[in-house]
Amino acid sequence: MQSIGAVAALVAGLAIPAAAATGAMPVAQQNALVEKYCAVCHNDANKTGGLSLENFDAAHPDPSVVAMMVSKLKDGAFGASGVPLPDRTTQDALLSALSAEAAGASEWTVNRTQDPEAPILTASILREILSTANAGEPNVYRLALTCRVDTREAEMQLAWAPGDVPGSGGTMSAAGDGKAPLSRAASTTSPDRSSFVIGSRSPG
Ligand code: HEC
Repeated sequence: MQSIGAVAALVAGLAIPAAAATGAMPVAQQNALVEKYCAVCHNDANKTGGLSLENFDAAHPDPSVVAMMVSKLKDGAFGASGVPLPDRTTQDALLSALSAEAAGASEWTVNRTQDPEAPILTASILREILSTANAGEPNVYRLALTCRVDTREAEMQLAWAPGDVPGSGGTMSAAGDGKAPLSRAASTTSPDRSSFVIGSRSPG
């Protein structure tokens, strides 16, 4: 009986997910926290700041999105929802789990997803530039390209955090396929000030 018990314990030990074994916050808990504290604003319907975290899954993270989230969390995003904050240990555990998932953000991540309507191709990459306003913490910029494979409609989004850049007055423009460039002025006062979107993703 004793040896069967020992084998059972060994099997149970092997079954512990890697995250639990290394002490990292379990994926389900990360997802639940993001849902509770972030998706109230960053949902598919509102896309506040040009970002939806409604279907965030820490098991399959886009490293560049996660890197932006880390920057925003360090900048106090937890408090944005108005819901009472989780304890410090929980906040730190989420920050450390997300920081690990952000590995590889400075390389292109390319994904093909099957939207209910059409295949969508996305590519995203992150760049960090040291902040002059906030010593030690870099400003992070995320470029995301989204293309509907069937209609070839595309969207280009540049987002940044923590948001002390750029000043208003600048313009971002982009041209594709030899067409006239599309431009958008930078504004530090618009509610979406942390991102630009150029182009249109869907016909309506
Ligand atoms: C009360 C609404 C609200 C909540 C809750 C909220 N945010 Fe935001 N978030 C915004 C707004 C508004 C912007 C755009 C303006 C700015 O950057 O301050 C933004 C911008 C961002 C951006 C930059 C935009 C981009 O495309 O990358 C990130 C990243 C982000 N939030 C992450 C988070 C995370 C992570 C949480 C949860 C811990 C969170 N936010 C909770 C309102 C919210």
